[in-house]
Amino acid sequence: MAKLVNPYKPGAGIFPPHLAGRESEIERCNLLFNQSLVIKNILLTGLRGVGKTVLLSRLKEIATGSGWMWCGTDMSESASVSENTVATRLITDISVMTSTLMLPPKESLIGFGTPVQKDSRIGFKELTSIYETTPGLASDKLKHLLSMIWLMVKTYSQYKGIILAYDEVQTMKDHADKEQYPLSLILEVFQSLQIKEVPILLILTGLPTLQGLLVSTRTYTERMFETIFLNRLDEKASRDAIEKPIKKQKSELGFSPESIDLIIKTSSGYPYFIQFICREVFDSFIQQVEAGNTKPNVPIEEIIKKLDIDFFSARWATLSDRQRDLLGVVASLENSTCEFTTKDVIALSKTMLEKPLSGSHITQMFEVLQGKGIIYKNRHGRYSFAVPLLNEFIKRSQNV
Ligand SMILES: Nc1ncnc2c1ncn2[C@@H]1O[C@H](COP(=O)(O)OP(=O)(O)OP(=O)(O)O)[C@@H](O)[C@H]1O
Ligand SMILES: [Mg+2]
Repeated sequence: MAKLVNPYKPGAGIFPPHLAGRESEIERCNLLFNQSLVIKNILLTGLRGVGKTVLLSRLKEIATGSGWMWCGTDMSESASVSENTVATRLITDISVMTSTLMLPPKESLIGFGTPVQKDSRIGFKELTSIYETTPGLASDKLKHLLSMIWLMVKTYSQYKGIILAYDEVQTMKDHADKEQYPLSLILEVFQSLQIKEVPILLILTGLPTLQGLLVSTRTYTERMFETIFLNRLDEKASRDAIEKPIKKQKSELGFSPESIDLIIKTSSGYPYFIQFICREVFDSFIQQVEAGNTKPNVPIEEIIKKLDIDFFSARWATLSDRQRDLLGVVASLENSTCEFTTKDVIALSKTMLEKPLSGSHITQMFEVLQGKGIIYKNRHGRYSFAVPLLNEFIKRSQNV
């Protein structure tokens, strides 16, 4: 057999060989990219590895193709330490785009005061200077700066608006103790500019904790965002994600219908798991065929073991014994795949643990586990796992 390249790509933010499903989510975003006045922003959330980051890259292609200027990156925790750091983050990202604009030589740029010499650019330094010299609070400065930027972009380019897209936003928070409100700042600034009909659209992406975080920061965010919750892939999309990459290669190697069914069942349609399992199966099939086996089988137990080590163990290792006890109880609940409450856990912990957990202790630990991105609280105050299939991993590790 000619040397085959394994097409599957398990990894954070790595674009898959075939982006399966997601047509309806893309369509919803497309409608928002075509709003005549920007009044709705996009909140893209979902469990770990469900495909938020890669969908964001697809949205970037679509939005830039339809005339938007796209700026943004990951929102690291350090970027949201204070209002000024988050403003610096925004300025940095926008300056990457504004510095490439073709500005008229030796002409006073509208609204930018000082005459701009030939070859001048509006980059980070110039934007920061406007931000710093504008009087008022951080929100006044940022509103003024963004309005100026839009004025410049509108005058000297064909862009129809500016999108600011941020990933991993669940790490952002306000710091009332330090009187720093970086998250509120962004929300307030965008809302205010959108009311003034500035075509500037915000896309925030992150774990499902993000939705609660935004609403608790500013209640009006419910109206400000269209929330797109990415679910696991349905049966057809899972099949496409598995089959299409191998079909594209036009090789003799193929997955049998039984193998495909097993991959769908084991991955439960979660994109990262599909990529991971397919990658392993592909390599294993090549080895088996080279060894003369014309009907290779899927070594599913070994693959699950590898998945446990590569994906789940690292997260599990960051937890204390007591947190693991708690999650052990949660995983044993009948409804652990959907939602659970503190009350459910108190009851079961009495029968499962030598030292049962009190309600307040559970609530406290749930808070910490939310911060670690292991679970999240939905708008009805119920909890769910933020990591797909973690309950099955926990049960497997309890049985060893
Ligand atoms: N629609 C899809 N079809 C096929 N594979 C996909 C799809 N979406 C994502 N993947 C694959 O799943 C993996 C995880 O994708 P991605 O990193 O975008 O997830 P995520 O939701 O951003 O995860 P995290 O919460 O860890 O940031 C990648 O290997 C990617 O190639
Ligand atoms: Mg991601």
